[in-house]
Amino acid sequence: MGEMEISLAEIAQRVANCQKCPLYKNTTKPVPGEGNPKAEVMFIGEAPGFNEDQQGRPFVGRAGKLLDELLSSIKVARSDVFIANVVKHRPPENREPLPTEIEACREYLDRQIEIIQPKIIVTLGRFSLEKFIPGVKISQVHGLARFVEINGRKIIILPMFHPAAALRGAGVMNMLRQDFLKIPQFLDNQEKVPLENSATKEENTKDNGSQLTLI
Ligand code: URA
Repeated sequence: MGEMEISLAEIAQRVANCQKCPLYKNTTKPVPGEGNPKAEVMFIGEAPGFNEDQQGRPFVGRAGKLLDELLSSIKVARSDVFIANVVKHRPPENREPLPTEIEACREYLDRQIEIIQPKIIVTLGRFSLEKFIPGVKISQVHGLARFVEINGRKIIILPMFHPAAALRGAGVMNMLRQDFLKIPQFLDNQEKVPLENSATKEENTKDNGSQLTLI
């Protein structure tokens, strides 16, 4: 099998065998991610927690239940999307992933994106956001979609708060619920509405002058 032809199953296998960083040592199961290989929308979180590590599946604990509920609110089935994390093995005590761990795990997520070719990536939390739009604050950019070029393809990045953060405060919860309602408009309108129409504007940001912000 050529390097470009590797499948999602092959990536999961590589994650299961991965020893590129020490995280695998203290885990129960790898959590490579799961979902529709042809998903239009991909959700990318931070790292597996306790329940995810037990089950080998992403977002199955309390934050996952909230994600399920949010998906229901926009009438999107979990089986239609792909859900993954920046880091594929659980960090001890759910600590934040280290830069070295994120870097070691990067190729797996990059390959998944390459294979799935989603129209939209919803970043959940700041580690996922940092991967696609470095140097911005989640509190300032959540709910604001923009194009980012990945492997020569423009993908809409829609930054959102992490569901676990929403569970800790009603303010964040409300913002996450509102931001979620923006997803269908991008899915439904992409073919029908030219992106240059009045619903969009060019934004020359400091971090990437070529990006487009959709409002
Ligand atoms: N939090 C995450 O970032 N990812 C999961 O899979 C579960 C909780």
